[in-house]
Amino acid sequence: MNLDRKFIDSLPKAELHLHLEGTLEPAHFLALAKRNNIEIPYRTVADVKRAYRFGNLQEFLDIYYRGSRVLVQERDFFELTWAYLERARAENIRHVEVFFDPQAHTSRGVHFDTVLSGIAEALEKGARELGISSRLIMCFLRDLNLASAFEALEQACEHKDRISAVGLDSAEAGYPPGKFKDLFDLAKAEGFRTVAHAGEDGPPSNILEAIDILGIERIDHGIACIEDDGLMTRLAEMKMPLTVCPLSNVKLGMVERMQDHPLRAMLESGLMVTVNSDDPAYFGGYLNENYWLAATALNLSQAQIYRLARNSFQASFLDHARKAELLSELDAHAGNRSIGTG
Ligand code: ADE
Ligand code: ZN
Repeated sequence: MNLDRKFIDSLPKAELHLHLEGTLEPAHFLALAKRNNIEIPYRTVADVKRAYRFGNLQEFLDIYYRGSRVLVQERDFFELTWAYLERARAENIRHVEVFFDPQAHTSRGVHFDTVLSGIAEALEKGARELGISSRLIMCFLRDLNLASAFEALEQACEHKDRISAVGLDSAEAGYPPGKFKDLFDLAKAEGFRTVAHAGEDGPPSNILEAIDILGIERIDHGIACIEDDGLMTRLAEMKMPLTVCPLSNVKLGMVERMQDHPLRAMLESGLMVTVNSDDPAYFGGYLNENYWLAATALNLSQAQIYRLARNSFQASFLDHARKAELLSELDAHAGNRSIGTG
């Protein structure tokens, strides 16, 4: 098939798996370090890029948390979020559900409200000025202690108007989801929607635990499901959404090459998969690049790409009216191009 990049770029879509701290571009990192008087061992963008070397999830996380240390003031979080939204608009992303990691900041003495206000104000401006709707997801860092996660949840409870959901991220190996049952039970009782990273760097049993013990509504990554036929069938039957991040998986060594990525097999097994960018400033590609690299390496059809965009709206936490509006925008776009949507 002769796939046209413009087809991907112009498609209305949602992004459901994006860490705001993972959008910190090297030039912005340098500028913030200077503004906030934080000593860093780099002088140029090329220096920073050279340091972005990681062979696995833990090596990446070490660099990601080090990078996050230059985010100090409310305006830093605002600028970070706004820069992402402007890119999102340019990529025809019509709705975003973004993660933030408050414990990575409160553990350094930055107040929860400083982080949240900067992010939330940018998201509100994004809705007003760019027409991008959003939901904010607060992630618990699974490799920190539980008391710190409960503290973050307590703070989130004071901001239910701005935080829609909670998630679970950071190092997966050695931190199975079941450990967080009480935390997620409380979050659900408080009315938060729930997601969790599972089956990125860990076994298929982590996906099962996230579903059966935490009762989450969406799996982040989940690519390990490809190792378990029974789990694949179950995920398809329950229409469990999975937010897959192809370029991240290649860059972190979860799959060797994009051609080996299970995305297409997952789609063809009837799973509700979506494509997302995870930490685009670190992995070298935003959302459209993820669609493009996956589509060309896996030889996806236009109908499959359209399906991925449709899933992104369907799997979102949007209310029925906005979901219907965005789905019909997508249908009109597909109709104009007479795409087989089967
Ligand atoms: N935090 C930021 N990116 C992450 C990833 N890919 N996996 C787990 N935690 C993360
Ligand atoms: Zn992630």
